[in-house]
Amino acid sequence: MNRILKKRELTPEIAWLEVEAPRIAKHWKPGQFIIIRPDKDSERIPLTLVAGDTTRGSIVMVIQALGKTSRVAVGKQEGEFLADVVGPLGEASAVEKVGQVLCVGGGVGVAELLPVAGAFRAAGNYVTALCGARSAAHIILDAELKQAADEVVWATDDGSTGFHGNVVQFMAAWQASRPALPALAHVIGPIPMMRAAANLTREWGVRTFASLNPVMIDGTGMCGGCRVTVGGKVRFACVEGPEFDAHQVDFDELALRTSAYRPQERQALAEHQCKVGLNS
Ligand code: FAD
Ligand code: FES
Ligand code: MG
Repeated sequence: MNRILKKRELTPEIAWLEVEAPRIAKHWKPGQFIIIRPDKDSERIPLTLVAGDTTRGSIVMVIQALGKTSRVAVGKQEGEFLADVVGPLGEASAVEKVGQVLCVGGGVGVAELLPVAGAFRAAGNYVTALCGARSAAHIILDAELKQAADEVVWATDDGSTGFHGNVVQFMAAWQASRPALPALAHVIGPIPMMRAAANLTREWGVRTFASLNPVMIDGTGMCGGCRVTVGGKVRFACVEGPEFDAHQVDFDELALRTSAYRPQERQALAEHQCKVGLNS
């Protein structure tokens, strides 16, 4: 059982939770993740480790309410408990000193970008964070990102603030106004966004890493749920990733595999909403 020490509602759909987990706080590295069960009868869901504090013995996770399990987690309040939190899992981000690093995040991916941007900056790089949100009201963690990166700029789908368009269109516009290419790019977000960002940086000839989000079950390399194809080879994202060379990832297969359980996910959510509606 892991106690929720603090909760912030970043948007009506996205919650920031600081959770007691002293051993994870001690050992985690940017790019790694945890697997949680909000309740003891919940399924397991993977979440990025956004921050850790060894003094408070706590970690931070940022959760978007998507289907049943993430909604149960987002519905938890301060003082309540998560049934379990396992981690740190996966490999840390490959952080090196290269010069200028472009960190690109979309949606809740912006939260996942935060520790990676901070690690690149701490390694002596100049870090630009290009972030995408649906509208000004959906922008999250802007202040925290400004602490982690040298430069933080936003694109919104509806143009309510920043660049009007999606974050990949923003990447193209941003680069067009610059004299030189970044040395490296890191992308995190929805699959179509990562695929489009990888296609663009391939044209630029800029090395790019993507943090992948396949369905994960055990997180230990045993179940095969998180199988992805990278450079024609089968890889298990939970133990060999979640970060891979974005130019080598088979995003079509990833998109197919993440949508494999949609009917069951829709059914689980409908049953959950029905029960919540009946207050049972
Ligand atoms: P469901 O309705 O069951 O599923 C909705 C969609 O979520 C599915 O179609 C599928 O694409 C995805 N999904 C469902 N179950 C899983 C699963 N077990 N593993 C992976 N994806 C799944 N989300 C955040 O909000 N914040 C994060 O920091 C974050 N970090 C992640 C880090 C990694 C390494 C991975 C793989 C995923 C991460 N996700 C994160 C995505 C998060 O795990 C899913 O949104 C969550 O599992 C959805 O579960 P659900 O029951 O609410 O939704
Ligand atoms: Fe089971 Fe990766 S989640 S092998
Ligand atoms: Mg689910």
